[in-house]
Amino acid sequence: MDKVRSPLFYVGDKYKLMPQLSTMFPTEINTFYDVFVGGGSVSLNTQAKHYQFNDFDSNIMALHEYLLGHTQDLDAFLADMYERIDKYGLTHSEVRVHPQLAKFKEQYKKTYFAKLNKNSYMKLRDEYNQDKSQIALLYLLLVYGFNHMTRFNASGLFNLPVGNVDWNKNVTRALKHYGDFATINQPQLFNEDFEEFIKSREYQPGDFVYLDPPYLITASAYNQSWGEEEELRLYATIDWLTNQGVQWGLSNVVDHKGRHNDILNSWMVPYDVHEISSNYISRFDNTIKDSKEVYVTNVSTKI
Ligand SMILES: C[S@@+](CC[C@H](N)C(=O)[O-])C[C@H]1O[C@@H](n2cnc3c(N)ncnc32)[C@H](O)[C@@H]1O
Repeated sequence: MDKVRSPLFYVGDKYKLMPQLSTMFPTEINTFYDVFVGGGSVSLNTQAKHYQFNDFDSNIMALHEYLLGHTQDLDAFLADMYERIDKYGLTHSEVRVHPQLAKFKEQYKKTYFAKLNKNSYMKLRDEYNQDKSQIALLYLLLVYGFNHMTRFNASGLFNLPVGNVDWNKNVTRALKHYGDFATINQPQLFNEDFEEFIKSREYQPGDFVYLDPPYLITASAYNQSWGEEEELRLYATIDWLTNQGVQWGLSNVVDHKGRHNDILNSWMVPYDVHEISSNYISRFDNTIKDSKEVYVTNVSTKI
């Protein structure tokens, strides 16, 4: 199976690591519990009979709910999105080259889409902030926003600036995969804290719990609410799963740019630990040798 991207283009998604991770997952999975689902790229690239998506970020879960409900009739969904793109006057490079694009590319080397879309994007952002039940607008903000992210200020207003991105064929392709996945698998959605979610499931033989929490020692927007207390609570919850005889796998980072996760390092000793060729490899970052990414599991794997 070719790996596919999530149309949420989530920062820190596991899309690139899937060829490594999936070889260590159980070969037959009954229900796949994606406890920290984010954009859902692990579920989208994993075969199972049933799926449950959970994340405590209610905006992410609202986007999943919206996409699950709409991408199954992809043509209608795209027609609606394209109409909105035209209404706001956003660029749409999948369909047409903007007449000013060449000139803007020359003038603004790395910000040409951002410059072209800024006013339209601000209009879209204002309209969304006036009525945040318009999840279609939130999805458009994610497509055109900085790094395809979502971010809200303390008063709950979406406050991310425009990005140097637009709706291209990769967005449509990712939506098609998501729609196909939704049609076949009908995942169930949950918006709970991980411990509450994990402890309230009724596990069956063949079930598998996958955990991709925020990493204690790396920098990311969703790491802000994560500290040592959450880290300890996570490992106690995973030990609880082990005692229940439930299969699980955890992605995490032990060392990163001189920081060490000692809690993880000592907790993982009795389990199977596999080193992963890191997500953090970057041709711009020569400190990369300091990063050690791991996959820890209680499922005995063949490799
Ligand atoms: C590393 S990201 C997951 C990325 C995901 N595997 C993907 O491929 O897109 C971690 C996620 O954990 C979520 N999260 C943070 N604290 C949580 C908690 N206490 N309970 C459940 N989810 C939480 C964040 O909202 C974030 O989406």
